[in-house]
Amino acid sequence: QTETLHTIMTGQPVIPVIVIDDAKDAVPLAKALVAGGLPAIEITLRTAAALDAIRAVAAEVPDAIVGAGTILNAEDFKAAVEAGSKFIVSPGLTPELVDAADGSAVPLLPGAVTSSEIMAALEEGYSLLKFFPAEQAGGAAYLKSLSSPFGGVRFCPTGGVSAVNAGDYLSLPNVLCVGGSWVAPKDAVSAGDWERITELSKEAARLG
Ligand code: 3PG
Repeated sequence: QTETLHTIMTGQPVIPVIVIDDAKDAVPLAKALVAGGLPAIEITLRTAAALDAIRAVAAEVPDAIVGAGTILNAEDFKAAVEAGSKFIVSPGLTPELVDAADGSAVPLLPGAVTSSEIMAALEEGYSLLKFFPAEQAGGAAYLKSLSSPFGGVRFCPTGGVSAVNAGDYLSLPNVLCVGGSWVAPKDAVSAGDWERITELSKEAARLG
């Protein structure tokens, strides 16, 4: 699983974080992101439409690598995998989530911010981690400081990351990719402005 996750995290500099209100937008949105060079996308389980959206993308956009985000417990994990998620993202890590992921072929990217959280994740075998909420938790300067004690850990910072500051994170030795919602702005999705999303994705794919 670690290898699969590493491949996803090194395949593109930015993983789009999607909050989807209407499942029917999922397929054209995923196609627009793929066309812009961002095939791995994280659909967050923050809306009622999320699981249907994941199902639709998994079935209809073969070039996309659809993942599920905001996975908070074993039940979410199972539902996301059943919907066809290729990877799972959580803002944190709990014993329940560790158990759910242990029995699964689908890799988990768990979140950690503090040293103790990172050490707990390492104890469970996780060295690829999400860093959330990146900007609010201390930003690129904080993350850079973690590279000394935790030389073997690689992060995907998300939360407040944008086209403006993504480069600060991507230049760090312990960052493989960043995550962010800026490549799929809500107004563009609701207007069906897929061209704009492809343009934003192209710009994001050039970062790093
Ligand atoms: C996440 O779950 O990764 C974040 O909500 C994405 O944060 P952003 O909307 O600030 O990019």
